[in-house]
Amino acid sequence: MPASVSSTRNPFSDAATPAVGVTIDDLCKSFGTFEVLKHVSFHVPPGEIFVLMGPSGSGKSVLLKHIVGLELPTSGKVTVDGLDAADETTREKVRMALVFQAGALFNSLSVYDNLALYPREHQLADEAGIREKVMRALQILSLENAANKFPSELSGGMKKRVAIARALVMEPQLMLYDEPTSELDPVMSATIAEIIATLKEQYHVTSIVVSHDRDLALGIADRVGILMGGQLRFLGKPAELRTPQDSRVADFLNPQIDLQNPRFKQLETQA
Ligand SMILES: Nc1ncnc2c1ncn2[C@@H]1O[C@H](COP(=O)(O)OP(=O)(O)OP(=O)(O)O)[C@@H](O)[C@H]1O
Ligand SMILES: [Mg+2]
Repeated sequence: MPASVSSTRNPFSDAATPAVGVTIDDLCKSFGTFEVLKHVSFHVPPGEIFVLMGPSGSGKSVLLKHIVGLELPTSGKVTVDGLDAADETTREKVRMALVFQAGALFNSLSVYDNLALYPREHQLADEAGIREKVMRALQILSLENAANKFPSELSGGMKKRVAIARALVMEPQLMLYDEPTSELDPVMSATIAEIIATLKEQYHVTSIVVSHDRDLALGIADRVGILMGGQLRFLGKPAELRTPQDSRVADFLNPQIDLQNPRFKQLETQA
């Protein structure tokens, strides 16, 4: 079904939400002489859950920032719904939300006001309608009691959930998550996985999820990409991760820990 036809209703509004696709086309990004992304290409069709994995420093967050226009390509192109992501007007035309790795909440605003900021600025509803959306998002993430707290009063995992709740009230067509389950306990991680899957199934939201969490990738991804050293070393279905052809990808997914290492024994006896 073409992107313009496939649409569904958003969880937080009555507006029909057309699904959007993302295309990364031969993307290169350098900071000075340091090449972070090297000719990365892939397409995420509308409504897909795409999980991007890879070692620390491989360029995952930098890639996500290109999709929302926070970084500009050195060469190559990123398009969202066929529109150039580097163009500011794209962010006005497509509702996309990035859940930052560190939350990026406004410290001077309460949790409630952090969530209400975007709907107020974009006049998505009147104050009563905004309250309903905000409280619903807080409830989904078990944060009802944190509405009046300030970010400095929250645990790391709570901040992460507030960041996800804030993204939900933006009524996104495209959700980008940077490590959504790091700092969360297994139960809350499962809740986040469920939210991502529900947004896809019921509301056809496209999701790109950067994660080190293999279970999350295997559990909810339609497809997985693995970035290593700025290059896409794997692109395929999660099931293919069980038997990766590339030995570097295999080593990344199944690191061999040398249990004979004398250091481990020392630690064990100290404990
Ligand atoms: N604004 C910047 N200026 C210079 N170098 C940068 C900048 N942003 C990122 N880098 C570098 O680009 C590389 C990739 O960073 P990135 O944050 O994308 O890694 P990552 O794959 O998200 O890692 P992690 O899993 O640890 O979050 C790193 O070496 C980082 O230092
Ligand atoms: Mg990162």
